[in-house]
Amino acid sequence: MPGTLRIAPSILSADLTALGDAVAAVERGGADLIHVDVMDGHFVPALTFGAPIVEALVRVATVPIDVHLMVSEPERHLETFAEAGAAMISVHVEVSPHLHRTLTAIKSLGVKAGAVVNPSTSVNLLKEVAGELDFVLVMSVNPGYAGQTFITQSESKVRAARDLLDRAGNIAPVEIDGGIQPSNASRLVRAGAEILVAASSIFRADDPAEATRRLREAALNDSNVVMPHKS
Ligand code: DX5
Ligand code: ZN
Repeated sequence: MPGTLRIAPSILSADLTALGDAVAAVERGGADLIHVDVMDGHFVPALTFGAPIVEALVRVATVPIDVHLMVSEPERHLETFAEAGAAMISVHVEVSPHLHRTLTAIKSLGVKAGAVVNPSTSVNLLKEVAGELDFVLVMSVNPGYAGQTFITQSESKVRAARDLLDRAGNIAPVEIDGGIQPSNASRLVRAGAEILVAASSIFRADDPAEATRRLREAALNDSNVVMPHKS
């Protein structure tokens, strides 16, 4: 629904020795989704999580799991992540030559389908599939690591993604990922972002629950978005 805001803490910066506690903390702080950064050591340099982590998260989380696939051949892994319990799966445009087919495959598994654009990739590449998307993920850092600096041009890319969806009559949300903090959140919401992903600004904080709350408050500050359903 347009005008709502969802906070999606990324477990990439969480204490992995106590993942269940990390999830519980951000849920106490009002997290709406748990974002999982899957990296294959090929599309991006690092290796991170696979489907067993998603399966474990599903057992402890009360909010949906948002799987961001930073892998070279995402279509090979859709079923596995769907079976693990992912509620949302996004694939990078840069490695999806048959994007329409890949989005259709995700949706046929009963999972929300998103397309991700790297900082150097134009959102115009999504034009022909704009009506098919359940969400668009705009990368505001080059994917691969947490804790990088927000790329300022990303704000106009959020606006472009919102326009593209609007022109297709699609109310699907725009998600933004990379370098999100209380200081830039409200500008991004005003530009049209409805899902804010954050790893380091939440999990590197002393109190991740409070950091989740603060990010939402900052995001809603000065913007005309509807208050989220959670109190
Ligand atoms: C970057 C990942 C992000 C990352 C964000 O490759 O896709 O989800 O975890 O980290 P921060 O919020 O620290 O920039
Ligand atoms: Zn991510």
